[in-house]
Amino acid sequence: MSAPKKLLILPGDGIGPEIMNEVRRIMDWMAQARGIRFDVSDDLVGGASLAVHGQPITQDVIDAARAADAVLFGSVGDPKWASAGFDRRPEIAILKLRQELGLFANLRPAKVFDSLADASTLKPEVVRGLDIMIVRETVGGIYFGTPRGIETLADGTRRGINTEVYTTPEIERVARVAFELARKRDNRVCSVEKCNVMESGLLWKEVVTDLHAREYPDVQLTHMLADNCAMQLVRNPRQFDVIVTGNLFGDLLSDLASMLTGSLGMLPSATLGAKGEDGRMPALYEPIHGSAPDIAGQGKANPLAQILSFAMLLRYSFDMQDDAALIEQAVSNVLDRGLRTPDIMSAGRTEVNTAGMGAAVVEELARLNKAG
Ligand code: NAD
Ligand code: IPM
Ligand code: MN
Repeated sequence: MSAPKKLLILPGDGIGPEIMNEVRRIMDWMAQARGIRFDVSDDLVGGASLAVHGQPITQDVIDAARAADAVLFGSVGDPKWASAGFDRRPEIAILKLRQELGLFANLRPAKVFDSLADASTLKPEVVRGLDIMIVRETVGGIYFGTPRGIETLADGTRRGINTEVYTTPEIERVARVAFELARKRDNRVCSVEKCNVMESGLLWKEVVTDLHAREYPDVQLTHMLADNCAMQLVRNPRQFDVIVTGNLFGDLLSDLASMLTGSLGMLPSATLGAKGEDGRMPALYEPIHGSAPDIAGQGKANPLAQILSFAMLLRYSFDMQDDAALIEQAVSNVLDRGLRTPDIMSAGRTEVNTAGMGAAVVEELARLNKAG
């Protein structure tokens, strides 16, 4: 038998540890009912790490992430550290992990579960059946470009600087991920930038166009300006299959898309790097939402984005398609049964807390497992 897969769990701050507990219950159930065991270790990131180590992420944690077969991340961010200084932000933990592990392609699937079509703030007929994939570049763009900083000018006023930078290889590698994904879906890619304003956007469009002509002529490619894309996502989201875009636009558009699915608490993600010579692919899985300080510690957080991120981990990193599908089916059935955390609650449904939702998913897994 091969060694168990190495899984590093980084719950982080705020609701991170609360929702991660519900994944742990699923892992316990998998061990007990299906004999599936992982080599799991846990560590601190974000404010939790700052409190103990004085830094948002330690080199040990970065090394452990590199050594792991996959990382399951919660969320980081804590208002307690708001005045600690820009280089002591809890958020540095996730930015550093992406950068150090070369996690350049962030897959953010916005899928509407049938029974949640009425949970969106949009009309059910607009979102029902929605299944789009946003591929967000995550190690480049304005998040990391230089020059950056805040400087004081001669007249005493200050200037804040960030720079949007993309190179041909950076654009090609993320676009390739989008084209490959599209081939397994509805075979359509919409590339999103602002080539009307930004040179980096113009290069983005040219590089995606060239790559498409060279390697992916079978995939339907369209281009859209990012502001229009935000509008189109609300007007008629089902027109999209795969969207590929840069770091900042991808961040904004995926939060927007999450509300099509009913809640930010529903949207999982996978952030993948390039396969190494040993065939291993660095990968981190996390909900797209943050630490939600406004509801932390109250048992209100929806754990489904975290649970669905774990399902993506099983699918993309461990090739455990059946187990991933089982978890996704369990989530869908629990929603069909009318169970709702407060963020997706509506009239006539049954409100449950974080642990209640997690327990219901485990119960449903057990039922499906017996039936199957
Ligand atoms: P947020 O995503 O934490 O929360 C936005 C809103 O959505 C809040 O009202 C929150 O209660 C709600 N929400 C989020 N997740 C939910 C869930 N699972 N269930 C129910 N409701 C949920 O964004 P924010 O408030 O702008 O940021 C809070 C902190 O999180 C900041 O420090 C930010 O930098 C950080 N953040 C971290 C990540 C990450 O770790 N990847 C992502 C986004 C934001
Ligand atoms: C996300 C978050 C992060 C980002 C922050 C916390 C650095 O908003 O993962 O969407 O902007 O990438
Ligand atoms: Mn975000």
